[in-house]
Amino acid sequence: MDLQKLLDDGIITKDTFEWLVPLWQQEVDDLREVQDARNSNHLFSIPTAEETETNNNDGDEDGLMLSKETIHNLEGITFSFWMDVGSTGHGNRLWHSSIAMCLYLKRNCQEWTVSQSSSSPSSSSTWRSLELGAGTALPSLYLGHLLSQENTFSPCFLHITDGKQYRNVRQILYSVSKQPSNILQRSLFRVSPHNWGESVEIEEDESTSFLVRECQGQYNSYDLILVSDCIYNPQYHKDLLKTIAATLRLPHNGCSGGKAVITFSLHGNTPDQDIWNFIDNTIPGLHYGDWRLTATPVDYKLSTLLQQPQVVEGRQGWDMEEIMKDMGLWTAHIEPKRWFSYLYEVTWVNKDRNS
Ligand SMILES: C[S@@+](CC[C@H](N)C(=O)[O-])C[C@H]1O[C@@H](n2cnc3c(N)ncnc32)[C@H](O)[C@@H]1O
Repeated sequence: MDLQKLLDDGIITKDTFEWLVPLWQQEVDDLREVQDARNSNHLFSIPTAEETETNNNDGDEDGLMLSKETIHNLEGITFSFWMDVGSTGHGNRLWHSSIAMCLYLKRNCQEWTVSQSSSSPSSSSTWRSLELGAGTALPSLYLGHLLSQENTFSPCFLHITDGKQYRNVRQILYSVSKQPSNILQRSLFRVSPHNWGESVEIEEDESTSFLVRECQGQYNSYDLILVSDCIYNPQYHKDLLKTIAATLRLPHNGCSGGKAVITFSLHGNTPDQDIWNFIDNTIPGLHYGDWRLTATPVDYKLSTLLQQPQVVEGRQGWDMEEIMKDMGLWTAHIEPKRWFSYLYEVTWVNKDRNS
């Protein structure tokens, strides 16, 4: 992975580049030290089973321990991404809510391409999406592939973020840099570290502001925000919402604002009610000027691959177990109710409007 090229291509900003370089250099030095130790001792020069496996792995060209995963024919799209066991915050596995998000994107992408000129404040402005807590960044990568199939769309800005952890961001950068050139030419990808709620205050010092440094200085400028399986920890709900409120496009001159799509399952790590509290109370409690946020459940048929949503404990959700089995992505030890994914669209509404 060539950091300088990522900078030159606009995939990372100068700030992200300067944060990454010393971490990258440290990793390269550590790998070299291990390699030298192996070379100087014949006992180590016999490849271990792990080494052999890694050497057969597409992610190993830099000596990085990444595993390549391929999603086959998800509504006609096959694409690969790379995972790093060392990425933190549960970002090192594929969660079924990210597949639900992909199906949502497929279902709605064409509508956005048609309505782009009427929904953006200026028809010439670039359509912008932002993924928060991206982990593997499956939805944004999938969106890049979807957009490459649309003729009518002018170039899009697909911004992918995860917490400010080196291995998390490196994992995403690796996946982005390995996408086919036609995908990278169709949309401008940007990858940034972002801890929710940090540096998104309007009065924030510009030299440290995430919005200014990583988001081209634009507040409330995203048409679409993707949040997949990020609300499992109530401790971060307020911070996450702070970022959403600072980045989601506001309605303007008769144009509808942006949409944040939140997909999640109930993992049982905290009482389910704590998660519903975010949807039912925390989101609608967020007011900004004339606007407040509202969360609406997605209840229409998403895909031929999925059944209609089912009512589980009074909420509409999608049972993702079968589709994960069909895709070879099923994992053991998940209770049946934890296979359900829930999808909500979060938008700005006039604060005087009754819900
Ligand atoms: C369960 S994983 C979901 C990953 C991915 N969105 C998916 O659906 O597969 C949660 C993600 O949120 C990120 N995360 C957790 N707390 C965060 C915080 N306070 N700020 C930013 N990212 C955070 C983690 O790094 C991780 O990638």
